[in-house]
Amino acid sequence: MLTISGLTKTYAKSGIPAVDNLSLTVKDGEIYGFIGPNGAGKSTTIKCVTGVLDYTQGSIAVNGADMRSEPLKAKRFVGYVSDDHAMYERLTGTEFVTFMCDVYDVPVSERRKRLARYVDLFDLQGDIGKPISSYSHGMKQKLSIIGALIHEPQLWVLDEPMTGLDPKSSYNLKMLMKEHTAKGNSVFFSSHVLDVVEKICDRVGIIDHGKLIADCTTAELRSSGLDSSLEELFLSITADKDSRGFAFDEEGSGDGRAAQSAATDGVRKSGADTPADGGDKA
Ligand SMILES: Nc1ncnc2c1ncn2[C@@H]1O[C@H](COP(=O)(O)OP(=O)(O)OP(=O)(O)O)[C@@H](O)[C@H]1O
Ligand SMILES: [Mg+2]
Repeated sequence: MLTISGLTKTYAKSGIPAVDNLSLTVKDGEIYGFIGPNGAGKSTTIKCVTGVLDYTQGSIAVNGADMRSEPLKAKRFVGYVSDDHAMYERLTGTEFVTFMCDVYDVPVSERRKRLARYVDLFDLQGDIGKPISSYSHGMKQKLSIIGALIHEPQLWVLDEPMTGLDPKSSYNLKMLMKEHTAKGNSVFFSSHVLDVVEKICDRVGIIDHGKLIADCTTAELRSSGLDSSLEELFLSITADKDSRGFAFDEEGSGDGRAAQSAATDGVRKSGADTPADGGDKA
């Protein structure tokens, strides 16, 4: 569904790549959780994947359509929820969704039915007709999600989609993700909520300083020997232990740390520095 090969993005005036030679694949029917510390490069990767940002090197293909050479074709497969809430504040929620339906050619006969379902799932019945400028943070997030999903794109690309959602909406979004992938579609989303990622994802990638440092299935993670969780893996491979606010594995001996290190080696990204395509395309 999504293939990223040797992606590098360096922002103008910055000599350091925000995303550095990153390669990953999201298969049909898969939910892929993309995690990493603040500033690691998640949103930059996502903006490249959705065609919002051009990139410095590498390639991105959605359903075989290259984001550079066939951008309109590639973008039609994608529904994108961004990390900010830049919206058309003077439109009502309904007008915004209608606009998205027009952009993506959603049949008129389908629009009302789809919107009614989402409005119900996200409890926006009383507000969908009101101007977006009157919406709360969470309401804008819900509307942004509806606008991204209304054309039933095969690949959902969601940048921290749970942020600001109330528990019912968060639960319903997770159910929608499951329902979507059960039909053979895919979800690529970033999050800082590791227990959610661990529960609903088929595959998890960890990015740090622009590099993909781990990429494994959640089944591999569970069988890796790590006694607790994704959180443990995350902390063990992204944090410099000397700079942690709290000691980690204090009680244990060096042996405990060694065992954990051996386990994390099993799920570390092998060949993270070796892109599929050499990574030096213009
Ligand atoms: N528009 C921009 N111009 C220059 N540098 C940028 C820009 N956007 C992001 N960066 C830099 O790129 C790096 C990656 O940022 P990015 O927003 O991709 O991180 P992130 O993993 O999404 O972080 P967060 O968890 O805080 O959302 C950071 O060093 C950031 O300062
Ligand atoms: Mg981000």
